[in-house]
Amino acid sequence: MNAQPRRLENIQTDRGSVPVYTTGIVEQPWNDYSDVDHDVWRRLYERQRNVLPGRACDAFLHAQDTMRMTPDRIPKFSELNKVLGDATGWQIVGVEGLLPELDFFTHLANRRFPVTWWIRRPDQIDYIAEPDLFHDLFGHVPPLMDPTFADYLVAYGEGGVKAHGFGPDALMQLARLYWYTVEFGLMRENGQMRIYGAGIASSAGESVHSVESAAPNRIAFDLERIMRTRYRIDSYQKTYFVIDSYEQLIEATRPDFAPIYARLAMQPTVPAGGVLETDAVLQHGSGEGWSAEGDV
Ligand code: PHE
Ligand code: FE
Repeated sequence: MNAQPRRLENIQTDRGSVPVYTTGIVEQPWNDYSDVDHDVWRRLYERQRNVLPGRACDAFLHAQDTMRMTPDRIPKFSELNKVLGDATGWQIVGVEGLLPELDFFTHLANRRFPVTWWIRRPDQIDYIAEPDLFHDLFGHVPPLMDPTFADYLVAYGEGGVKAHGFGPDALMQLARLYWYTVEFGLMRENGQMRIYGAGIASSAGESVHSVESAAPNRIAFDLERIMRTRYRIDSYQKTYFVIDSYEQLIEATRPDFAPIYARLAMQPTVPAGGVLETDAVLQHGSGEGWSAEGDV
């Protein structure tokens, strides 16, 4: 059976109340995974590998193959770490679940990606509110094989450590940036909408919704717009932000954020489904709308 993770406290975010677990690094207890655990991995892996071709960006699918993740068993962190370390110097470290922000940022700044060691139960195949091994490993680790994305995430971690001294507003703005890029980012590749965000890539339903549904807005990447945009954890996204390449992420986030945090503190936030006059809208959502003229 799955062992139960140990909860410490809850933190309040845009997404509601989120549990924070113990902060230490744990050795992946690979020998303790049950047949049920391996079977959950296999079912999720096979389903996503059927859904993602033609929907995920090339780099994502290619990286997963290179890392030799396979359906037959839960991968060993130690084996993935050899390939990952050679490619970009990143390492996976096992954790119980979500970490306090400063611990998380510090790991990223040091090229360590925290991966939840336990996998969801069979009755949670379609949806689990908190990150588990499948989300973390299948969704987050392949992009770390790309040198540019790998550098972006280091810069993000360093930026997070720095932002910690700026207070809760700055941290919330940074959390939105992570949400709309690392978790729910889309990329235009050869004129097509493609997935690179881990939250999409690890969800069968959202993989289809994000690139094929007419409901969400798809808006060209805009750093400050993203940092003002609220988000929901409990539904498909109402808005996706679209990059042209990982280089765009690095370049757009290179400037010092200190004046940006100060400027954004003076501006209203934008609802998750909001559209502004200044947005470069690539595809307008048909979902229930919100506009700048409507109620704020
Ligand atoms: N350039 C940002 C700063 O000065 C750091 C950062 C980089 C934040 C990449 C997010 C992503 O704070
Ligand atoms: Fe995640």
